[in-house]
Amino acid sequence: MHKNTSPFLGLLMLLFSLPLLAQQQEKQVLIETKNTALILTVGSNQRLYQSYFGEKLSDHSDYSHLMATRHEAYVPAGMENLFEPAIRVTHADGNPSLELKHVNTTVKKQDENVTTTSITLKDPKYPMEVVLHYVAHFNEDIFKTWTEIKHQEKKPVTLHNFASSMMHFDASSYWLSQFDGDYMIEMGMKESQLTNGIKTLDSKLGTRAHMYRTPVFFLSTGGKSTETTGNVVAGTLAWSGNFQISFEIDQANSLRVLSGMNPYNSEYQLEKGKTFTTPPFIFTYSGQGKGQASRNLHKWARKYGVLDGDKPRLTLLNNWEATHMDFDEKQLVELFDGAKKLGVDLFLLDDGWFGEKFPRDNDRTALGDWMTDKKKLPSGIGYLVSQAHAKDIKFGIWLEPEMVSPKSALYEKHPEWILKLPNREEHYSRHQLVLDLTNPKVQDFVYKTVDDLMTQNPGISFIKWDCNRMMTNAFSPYLKDKQSHLYIDYTRSLYAVMERLRNKYPHLPIMLCAGGGGRTDYGALQYFSEFWPSDNTNGFERVFIQWGYLNFFPSVTVSSHVTSMGKQPIKFRTDVAMMGKMGYDIKVSSMTPQEIEFSREAVKTYKKLSPVIWTGDLFRLVSPYEENRAVLMYTSEDKNKAVLFNYILNTRHKEKLAPVKLQGLDPAKRYIVQEVNMLPGTQSQNPAHGKTYSGEYLMKVGMNLSPGRLTPVTSNIFEITEEKHLSEK
Ligand code: DGJ
Repeated sequence: MHKNTSPFLGLLMLLFSLPLLAQQQEKQVLIETKNTALILTVGSNQRLYQSYFGEKLSDHSDYSHLMATRHEAYVPAGMENLFEPAIRVTHADGNPSLELKHVNTTVKKQDENVTTTSITLKDPKYPMEVVLHYVAHFNEDIFKTWTEIKHQEKKPVTLHNFASSMMHFDASSYWLSQFDGDYMIEMGMKESQLTNGIKTLDSKLGTRAHMYRTPVFFLSTGGKSTETTGNVVAGTLAWSGNFQISFEIDQANSLRVLSGMNPYNSEYQLEKGKTFTTPPFIFTYSGQGKGQASRNLHKWARKYGVLDGDKPRLTLLNNWEATHMDFDEKQLVELFDGAKKLGVDLFLLDDGWFGEKFPRDNDRTALGDWMTDKKKLPSGIGYLVSQAHAKDIKFGIWLEPEMVSPKSALYEKHPEWILKLPNREEHYSRHQLVLDLTNPKVQDFVYKTVDDLMTQNPGISFIKWDCNRMMTNAFSPYLKDKQSHLYIDYTRSLYAVMERLRNKYPHLPIMLCAGGGGRTDYGALQYFSEFWPSDNTNGFERVFIQWGYLNFFPSVTVSSHVTSMGKQPIKFRTDVAMMGKMGYDIKVSSMTPQEIEFSREAVKTYKKLSPVIWTGDLFRLVSPYEENRAVLMYTSEDKNKAVLFNYILNTRHKEKLAPVKLQGLDPAKRYIVQEVNMLPGTQSQNPAHGKTYSGEYLMKVGMNLSPGRLTPVTSNIFEITEEKHLSEK
């Protein structure tokens, strides 16, 4: 203290400097779920670091050892960073750097289960702020994180990179499971070891953005993981547009994982005072392999991630595979009888019902002209709805509201509503173009298309929302000189339309479809009740496709229909559909009486089993990627009931398959095993059928699921019920 300072003044100065001193000490931000902890540290330099992410420690005092300040939590570009940044900006004055220092942390408890931690960081020299949000879902072990960026600079700031999240890992090795594909072969699983440099999973497709790749991954650290062992992070970006998830290993073998909207061709001019919000990245950690990671996601999704995710779904008959666009009123009404025969809840009328000037007789016309084709359907949709209701089935309808055919009245009337480049040829995919949804007038049009249909036909109980092409040669007449906003603003506009629709129709089931699984993410699923995984409904192929999606999405969202594709036995195709949200897309009139009888019973069986399939915990027991079969089971949370699916795929002569150990049962409970969904007049050949076992036996010794001679593309479903609950069936 200065020798001339009075003792009173000295005390005052000390008091004022206390907060400053306190600020300069390192502080921890602890974000915990039931089994996992994420620890961030505010360093003495006020920067924010990720110090830990992994298994939670029971003694909190141990966390004080985890103050590492090696990995900045959200690395900005332009200063000392030497690797891929989380954020890169150019300030209004042209300065291309950002420094982020901690300002404050707020913690809000939404309820007993959900807590949001928001950390505000600011540039000490520029009026720019970045807020990192972390929502912890305690019981589900799920973290949801996103970023907000804003500034008070005089002119717009350019955002070049804008990650939703950045995560750091230090392990001996890293293994990535990615899920790629194409139309008809969606969600193929590939695992590989990450090496130094950057591995990027991304999409640049704009719309139908997940046709080649879904924004999901498993990351195993310190060695490969299995379904039941190993350290795994499951992550997924809730974004229906272009995404980028990158994995970079540096010279010290540290890994940084960045996720977010794809910065490709997307530099964003952020106006003063406006907030730029990134989509959420959802992730979970499991110390017991991938199975647990999937179950965490499923549990969270049913409660928080999917529209009405914890509510029952409708079984349905779709007419696409049966008729394509070739139908008339009389035929459709006859098809309702098919739905009735099968015993499903709803008939879904697919593509081909609309178009006035250019009727929709093939895929070259009429998208955008959402008026009933009077030639095919002279009495209109209302008549179909009433006919369906008269047969005691619900009615649903297909739409593709974001698109326009070059042969349509809409194309002629509003060329300025269409995404297409000036001075270039129009480029088609499935003979169609994408509407410019960034234009509020187009948003109104899309909203009105759905709203008119619903208000004019209030009996409609289901919509299938399709999106059959990606963006190419795209230019937005509305965005003018801000073309680099197109990819981001398009997806935001889609969500804005869905938000409006959901305000008016909060619970209308809407199936998300994009020529199959071209739009499969939790950004969309907050507005949609389920998705169409693939146009490939060949039962054999479908085992793999559904297997892929079930890693990240709960069964209640994975629409799985029985069709004629693949020509496999009806039992196999039905058993495959039953592992997800079952439906039909088949010409019932071409089915044999035996097939109809079997299917009718199958629908009843499915309705009985569906509470366990839809809300139970999924255990993947044998992967089709590892053996010539796939085995999975769902177990109810109270462990009273389980359903097991066994699919024999492609076996060799005299091949023998080992018994399979079940999972998720209560070892102390006694369960009766019953094979169900048998073909009429056949009986189970499995010696376990009708017998009672302890959960311990089934999990330690297991079941021989295929005791006899193996026949390719055959299947079994077993219902496993605790003895005490048998009467409840
Ligand atoms: C693509 C979808 O995936 C199909 O199920 C069907 O709805 C067609 N579009 C209709 O055009």
